[in-house]
Parts: sequence; C-alpha cells; structure tokens
Amino acid sequence: MRETLLQAAAAAREQAYCPYSHFAVGAAVLTEDGRIFTGCNVENASYSLGCCAERTAIFKAVSEGCRRITAIAIAGAPAGMQPDAPCPPCGACRQVMAEFGGADLLIHLTDRSYTLAELLPVQFAL
Ligand code: THU
Repeated sequence: MRETLLQAAAAAREQAYCPYSHFAVGAAVLTEDGRIFTGCNVENASYSLGCCAERTAIFKAVSEGCRRITAIAIAGAPAGMQPDAPCPPCGACRQVMAEFGGADLLIHLTDRSYTLAELLPVQFAL
C-alpha cells in the first residue's frame, strides 16, 4: 500500500497549481474504509490563500464522508523535477492530520515512513 499511495501522490502532483512558488506537491490519503483520495497544492495570487496538497486531499476525503484516515503519502519537488527527495508535511498539515488520523497515522515520504506521533508529538486539541 505504501507504493500505491506514493504513486497516487506522484500522479496527483501532475495537477499542482503552483505558478508562484513553482514547487509542485501531490498527496494521497487512505481512509479507514479503504478509499484513496488525492490532492495537489493550489496557490493563489493572494499568496496566503493557497492550500497544501495534503489538506486538499484530506478535505476531499472528509467532504465525501470520511472521518478517519490511516495513511498519507506525499510527493513534492520543484515543478519539472522528479519528486525523489522526501517532502515532509508542513506544521499546519500535521495538525490537520491529527484531526482525522490517530497517533499511528502513517506518513509515507519517498525515503521512509513516519507515524504522526513522530512528526507531531504534541498537538493542539480541544
Ligand atoms: N506545500 C504543500 O503542498 N505541502 C506542504 O506540506 C508544504 C508546502 C506547498 C505550498 C505551496 O504551494 C508550495 O508547496 C511552496 O510552499
């Protein structure tokens, strides 16, 4: 499943809209009922309105009724280059992962996989 998700993330990256940073990211989420949702980063001329690939994918899953994710793969690199190097998720995306995934959520990067507990050991919760 790790390779399937990484391939789906790389494919989703093809749709990245990143005319400002020229950094293209794709993500693929596995839901607890076995569905896969993908997303890419979507930027905006008003820079802060852009959305990361991870959150695009997670919000797509949630908006389709999923409330629990078990894994996410991320593929990111400068546009036009192969996403061979690991692209760790930003802090905001880690917090969104915490909302819909447990401490054992798997985060697959190109070189190795982590749990959410490793990448976000202390998280905000109400
Ligand atoms: N980006 C992501 O899509 N995911 C991350 O975890 C970090 C950064 C995007 C946001 C922006 O469109 C571009 O990469 C450069 O920061």
